Amino acid sequence: MDGLKGLLRHVRAYVLLQRIVGADRLRYRCIEEIQPGDTVLDIGCGPAYYFPRLPQPLNYHGFDTDAPYIDWAEERFGGENASFHCGNFDEAAARSLPPIDVVLLLGLLHHLSDEQCTQLLNLAASVLGPGGRVISVDTCFEPTQGRISRWMSANDRGEYVREPAAFEKLALQSFGQVEGNVINDATHVPSSYWMMRMTEPNRLRAE
Ligand SMILES: C[S@@+](CC[C@H](N)C(=O)[O-])C[C@H]1O[C@@H](n2cnc3c(N)ncnc32)[C@H](O)[C@@H]1O
Repeated sequence: MDGLKGLLRHVRAYVLLQRIVGADRLRYRCIEEIQPGDTVLDIGCGPAYYFPRLPQPLNYHGFDTDAPYIDWAEERFGGENASFHCGNFDEAAARSLPPIDVVLLLGLLHHLSDEQCTQLLNLAASVLGPGGRVISVDTCFEPTQGRISRWMSANDRGEYVREPAAFEKLALQSFGQVEGNVINDATHVPSSYWMMRMTEPNRLRAE
C-alpha cells in the first residue's frame, strides 16, 4: 500500500489511477454545479485533470502545494482565463482574487486536521461573491458501506477520513446552509464519498 501511495506522487500515475478507479466520474458530478461565465477557485486542485470538462467561458484559479501537479496543469490548461498557483491558499491569496462563484475542494478536507479545515473553510467563505457556493467531496466512513468500501476509506492517503456528521459539523462553523449526500455509486471500485454544498457564508467578503 505504501508503494501505491508513493506512486501517486507521480502526476501521470495519479491521473491514470483516477481514471481506472472512476474517481474522475465523481469529479464530473461535482463540477455540474458550475455554470458558463462563473469564476471558480479550485483549492488543492492537484493536476486538475477534470479541467477540460469545465463549462466555458470560465475564470479559473487553481492552488496546490505540490509543484509537479501545478506545473503539469499549467502546461496543459494554463491561459488567459486559467491560472495555477503553487502554495498554500492563505489570506494573501484570498485577497488577490475577484469575487468567486464556486469554490471547489475536491478530495482536500480529508487531508486536513479539524483546525486546518476550519481555517480553510473560513477562507473559502470569505472569497464568495453573492450566490457563491463551495463544493467539497471526500472519502468518508459511513454505516451502509461494505467491507471493500470501508477498507478503501481506511487505506486512503488522507489522514483525516471522517464520518459525514464530522465533515458537516466543520462546514457549519463557516456556512449557514450545508447540504450533503453520500455517493457510493460513482467509482468502479466500491468506495464511499461525502459531497457537500455550502452556502450562506458566515464571513462576508470584505470589499
Ligand atoms: C487528493 S488530491 C486532490 C486533487 C484534485 N483536487 C483532484 O480531485 O484530483 C489533494 C490535493 O490537495 C493538495 N493540498 C493538500 N493540502 C493543501 C493545502 N493546504 N493547500 C493547497 N493544496 C493542498 C495536495 O497537494 C493534493 O494535490
